[in-house]
Amino acid sequence: MKKLVDLIAEKTAEAFEGAGYSRSYARVSVSNRPDLCEYQCNGALAAKKEYQKAPIRIAEDVAARLQGSPVFEKAEAVMPGFINLTLSPAFVSGYLQKMAEDPEHSVEKTSSPETIIIDYGGPNVAKPLHVGHLRSAIIGESIKRMGRRLGNTVIGDVHLGDWGLQMGLIITELQERKPDLPYFDPAITSGYPQEPPFTMSELEEIYPAASARSKEDAEYKERALQATADLQGGRPGYRALWRHILDLSVSDLKKNYAKLHVDFDLWKGESDVQEYIGPMVEEMKEKGFAYEDQGALIVDVAEEKDQKEVPPCMILKSDGAALYTTTDLATIVQREEDYHPDEILYVVDKRQEMHFIQVFRCARKTGLVPESTKLSFLGFGTMNGKDGKPFKTREGGVMRLETLIADINQEMYKKIVENRSVKDKDASRTAEMVGLAAIKYGDLSNQASKDYVFDVDRFTSFEGNTGPYILYTIVRIKSILEKFREEGGSLADAKILEPAGKGEKNLMLQTARYNEALEGAYAEKAPHRLCAYIYELANNFNSFYHETKILSEENREQKKSWLLLLDTVREVLEDAIDVLGFEAPERM
Ligand code: ARG
Repeated sequence: MKKLVDLIAEKTAEAFEGAGYSRSYARVSVSNRPDLCEYQCNGALAAKKEYQKAPIRIAEDVAARLQGSPVFEKAEAVMPGFINLTLSPAFVSGYLQKMAEDPEHSVEKTSSPETIIIDYGGPNVAKPLHVGHLRSAIIGESIKRMGRRLGNTVIGDVHLGDWGLQMGLIITELQERKPDLPYFDPAITSGYPQEPPFTMSELEEIYPAASARSKEDAEYKERALQATADLQGGRPGYRALWRHILDLSVSDLKKNYAKLHVDFDLWKGESDVQEYIGPMVEEMKEKGFAYEDQGALIVDVAEEKDQKEVPPCMILKSDGAALYTTTDLATIVQREEDYHPDEILYVVDKRQEMHFIQVFRCARKTGLVPESTKLSFLGFGTMNGKDGKPFKTREGGVMRLETLIADINQEMYKKIVENRSVKDKDASRTAEMVGLAAIKYGDLSNQASKDYVFDVDRFTSFEGNTGPYILYTIVRIKSILEKFREEGGSLADAKILEPAGKGEKNLMLQTARYNEALEGAYAEKAPHRLCAYIYELANNFNSFYHETKILSEENREQKKSWLLLLDTVREVLEDAIDVLGFEAPERM
């Protein structure tokens, strides 16, 4: 469906034209004075120059043409030249009626779909998921869903950290503990056991132990570095071990992401681009972009306009080893080859911004992607505890994602049982659903680039700008509709009538803005905009609900109209939370 604001702008443009002015001045926006009008057009002020006329005269000419239009109840020219617009109730209810019938709830697919790769999640193999990885997963997932909802081809890639020093550390530690395993014997090069020589929980314990030891023991660290190099160089025993580590980790990660309703199309990682590195580096050298500096291979990426220093991009270390930058560049080559994306979007901690500036510049300079391919970085802020420091466990350790989810679910479970609206056997399932909404909405409702405080009490509250409040609103609407149906009611022949009061009209107007809100949020890659939209919609519904006795309404047509409106609000809310990455229970 066409956006409400565009329909209004079209009518206004006709009026500008009819009065002898250019249509281009007819931009309208939601009024910033809702006490005076619903939409406003400031075009007359801008037209002053071209027509050498007082803006108020222009506004009057346009407003006069809008009188009697079926779209507007009122069009007023006010000093110094604003046009204040109030929509006609019939126009608004007509739009809502179409929306109620539209299976897409007003959302239109884009006429120019793009292929976008979103690089998000970014977990490191063998290290447990911690809250730092949570934001990337939540934000990336919702942008992916927004893009798809609007008709784009969006490919989510988890981009595993599976090739770095952590692998060498684990191998070294395993060798300490189980030196007799065949993986460490250079004479054995094949026929390794099918079963991994460790479990996931062992693995999770091995890595931190190895990492701690490497910080104290230089010789141990040296061995880990060597093991990393040998692994990357293709030593068969290490490769076989690495496979085991990767397989175990990936199945564990998949379980955890599934709990978060986060789902990747590609499970590729840093290790997948090894074969691309050699040719890429050769080409960079041949074309004269890459040169040796103190043994290392670098590409200059500084630009004159730089305010702060952008160091050269290091492609190979002096020992010939590849770096984080190298794998990221080679991944761009691979993605270009496989998908020819219009855009690659990285959803990564904003502290990695410089890394991506370097990578993007280097990719452009050396021609890894065509000019038309956008490379974008969405850097997110840190999730802090109430003390304003990065979120930690009570003991001060790194908070594991599983622990955080368990804490939230427990808190939700308590509240849900207190409410006693849910049967015991459903309570924990419901707590999980509401808990997920609490976590995701708590994150997504903040502008991604900002740090935010993870506040369990606030996030799990049923009141205020929270996930549980949104779900509670949906559940409330569901239960009203259910009562109506239990009494034998049906909405099959319901029609949306003109809004009677201000609260009802506001609710309709906000509902009608769904397509606009979703498109706007996606254009800015800003899930918080969609959150703000549904929060307002939920508020509009709740105030309407408080002032209106819906189920006891005597006039059947009126009652059904309201219920159809409610059902449409529910559909919009459910569609929006699906895009944000969570869902509502039947009851709570
Ligand atoms: N594994 C990295 C980390 O934990 C994040 C990866 C982000 N994506 C990328 N293409 N560099 O810091």
